[in-house]
Amino acid sequence: MAKIVGGICTTHVPYIGRAIAKNLQQDPYWKPFFDGFPPIHAWLDQVKPDVAVVVYNDHGLNFFLDKMPTFSIGAAPEYHHADEGWGIPTTGSFMGDQDLSWHMIDSLIEDEFDLTTCQEMLVDHAFTIPIDLLLPNRQAGSIRTVPVCQNTVQFPLPSAKRCLAFGRAIRKAIESWDSDARVVVLGTGGLSHQLDGERAGFINKKFDLEFMDKLVSEPDWVSQYSIPDIVELTGTQGVELLNWVTCRGVLGDKVKIVHSNYHIPISNTAAGTLAMESI
Ligand code: DHB
Ligand code: FE
Repeated sequence: MAKIVGGICTTHVPYIGRAIAKNLQQDPYWKPFFDGFPPIHAWLDQVKPDVAVVVYNDHGLNFFLDKMPTFSIGAAPEYHHADEGWGIPTTGSFMGDQDLSWHMIDSLIEDEFDLTTCQEMLVDHAFTIPIDLLLPNRQAGSIRTVPVCQNTVQFPLPSAKRCLAFGRAIRKAIESWDSDARVVVLGTGGLSHQLDGERAGFINKKFDLEFMDKLVSEPDWVSQYSIPDIVELTGTQGVELLNWVTCRGVLGDKVKIVHSNYHIPISNTAAGTLAMESI
């Protein structure tokens, strides 16, 4: 059966794509952020994942406000990167894993998560930036991927409790996949940020750090907050932390931290990174 090697949650700010393209990792603005990754690269070199299940939110590239699935999943042979307007360099396409996609779809629908299945899917910065951060020398074909998209954009959004249950159902699906593949799960976005309106630039370090702490030790803690509470506490885009919640659900009851980092700001965003391993 397939093995879940661990999970990594990190921000997906598009501006990072430009810093990578221009090799600015040692630049004083970027260094405290990029310094969060070498220990995770070393861990990835040890656990050697074959497949990444990437939990993220689409920002208007595949789904716009007129059609917005709550949960959707890719089942394509490959996924092309398209930039939905940030002017970042587009990277090569990503290999899919259709066997895992369809196994997850069957298992999740059996478990009453009524997904939208996408046999064609473009991926935006929320999918590509974390992979480029984690696998900086990614060769075409070096890792297979399954995109899992959650609506964190157009109300009503799924609750934190629902995302945690979704993650737990994804765990059950991966663990019942008849394969000897090693699977890493990613949760992208957040932490606190608000890009628009009167509170543009809003960041809440106190909440972010508590969230990271509780995500490790007590993942159900976040379920006490409604979506409006989370928006108030973390900003209109901070609610992307729902992708971290789903990722945590995939990792099972107990986890230990592989590495964590928190740096303010990258662009408008509190850039959190948290790599975890199930114990
Ligand atoms: C930024 C953050 C995001 O999550 C995003 O999707 C786009 C931009 C930012 O801080 O610039
Ligand atoms: Fe975003």
